[in-house]
Amino acid sequence: MKLFLDTANIDDIKKYASWGLVDGVTTNPSLIAKEKVSLEKRIKEIAKVVKGPVSAEVFSTDAKGMVAEGRKIAKWAKNIYVKAPCTPDGLQATQILSKEGIRVNMTLVFSANQALLAAKAGAAFVSPFIGRLNDAGHEGMEVIEEIAEIYNNYNFKTEILVASIRSPRQVTESAMLGADICTVPAAIYDKLVKHPLTDSGLKKFLEDAKKAKLI
Ligand code: E4P
Repeated sequence: MKLFLDTANIDDIKKYASWGLVDGVTTNPSLIAKEKVSLEKRIKEIAKVVKGPVSAEVFSTDAKGMVAEGRKIAKWAKNIYVKAPCTPDGLQATQILSKEGIRVNMTLVFSANQALLAAKAGAAFVSPFIGRLNDAGHEGMEVIEEIAEIYNNYNFKTEILVASIRSPRQVTESAMLGADICTVPAAIYDKLVKHPLTDSGLKKFLEDAKKAKLI
């Protein structure tokens, strides 16, 4: 499973990219707004640091505007994926952009039917938001399971990008369900590597080695 970073913070992106395991980055208008920087400037910066897919979302809500914005955004770097919301206009824009070879990440997906439509429209990625589903009292992972089964039944090439991750366990569950990608906020990325038994085990190994004058 590919691991993306879900942030627009360039320092975090540089930090985790240096570990060598960041396969891509997702941003959204709220994440960009937090950084107080223009979308174009930040996306170009990110695309220089991370060679894998970098998602940038359109601000327009009508199909014509999304297509125009999508075409512009796609020119910023070779690894750009244009994010469009799963609305009738978003689906229309996705078909037009995909036919032109522009890769679309269909975002704000909350049901298997929306994911089915995104795949039919030619989206390269579909982004189900599991954390927000759980917050609303649903079982987000069930939607991932349903989407995986549907895509498998019909051999859709659209990749399942599990988004709105709130815990390390959800990363494990995404991988167990065979999701293609999981996009993870920086705070969760840190927790993926951390384990108290790793820390205490390493401490003990080094103490024993010192006692035996091995180091
Ligand atoms: C995905 O691409 C979105 O940026 C993100 O995962 C949304 O997560 P949130 O629900 O924590 O805002």
